[in-house]
Amino acid sequence: MDSWVDGRPGDALSLKDRGLAYGDGLFETIAVKGGQPLLLDRHLQRLAEGCSRLAMAADHGLIRSELLAYAAALGEGVLKLMLTRGDSLRGYAADPAAAPRRILQGNPPVVYPPAHGQQGVRLFPCATRLSIQPALAGLKHLNRLEQVIARAEWQGGDCAEGLMLDLEGRVIEGVFSNLFLVRNGVLVTADLSRCGVAGVMRAELLFQAKSLGIPTEITDISLEHLQQADEVFVCNSVYGIWPVCACAALSWPVGPLTRKLQGIARALLDA
Ligand SMILES: Cc1ncc(COP(=O)(O)O)c(C=O)c1O
Repeated sequence: MDSWVDGRPGDALSLKDRGLAYGDGLFETIAVKGGQPLLLDRHLQRLAEGCSRLAMAADHGLIRSELLAYAAALGEGVLKLMLTRGDSLRGYAADPAAAPRRILQGNPPVVYPPAHGQQGVRLFPCATRLSIQPALAGLKHLNRLEQVIARAEWQGGDCAEGLMLDLEGRVIEGVFSNLFLVRNGVLVTADLSRCGVAGVMRAELLFQAKSLGIPTEITDISLEHLQQADEVFVCNSVYGIWPVCACAALSWPVGPLTRKLQGIARALLDA
């Protein structure tokens, strides 16, 4: 399907766009089923928070209505929204009069091997570390070079995802997923106040777990914690949940809480 730029079909972008020059912007990758963008409110909530933290004044009502119209036309697949700070002249200073630019792209559904969800995946232990930057932590901003170089660390199908630590050795997330572990019945995920992307699926799973009375904890995770975990899984808003069965010399069984939450994630994405 054709891309839209500022609400109109088109592939061309100004060379002055700050998303291109500086990664000055945000994005959302949204699963679309039956013409509906899934988990839309959570995606829009993260985008709005990103806009406020980056001081980007966007028309959120317009963004919502364009997303709904684009998803209806796409039908099935994955929709990518990029919101850049628009154009400016050379130099980091932004033009206060420039309006944010809305870019919508539609892609066909992503088909992953069913074994990823059934038997679980192996994580590649990435050497690339996430830098610590609280001003950007949690945001899905357009600067994704850390993920680009981490993803280039492994090839082939042996590992479906990579494990990323921060510069001080904390376990943070996958290259394109968030990570959870289960220890003594508690569902644990990394504190993302220094780095990492606060995923929509992560937020939804924390919410679902709380409403089921499952204890949850957001904390710093060390490699020792990971090693001692009873279950480990990764998640995102496109594939749902993949159990993690191994990372380097570590291994975990696919456990009952992972299976329970996987069913919930599947129901949300099959909507
Ligand atoms: C670095 C990173 N972390 C986490 C996620 C998961 O985010 P979400 O659940 O919003 O898809 C993604 C998704 O692409 C990501 O790129």
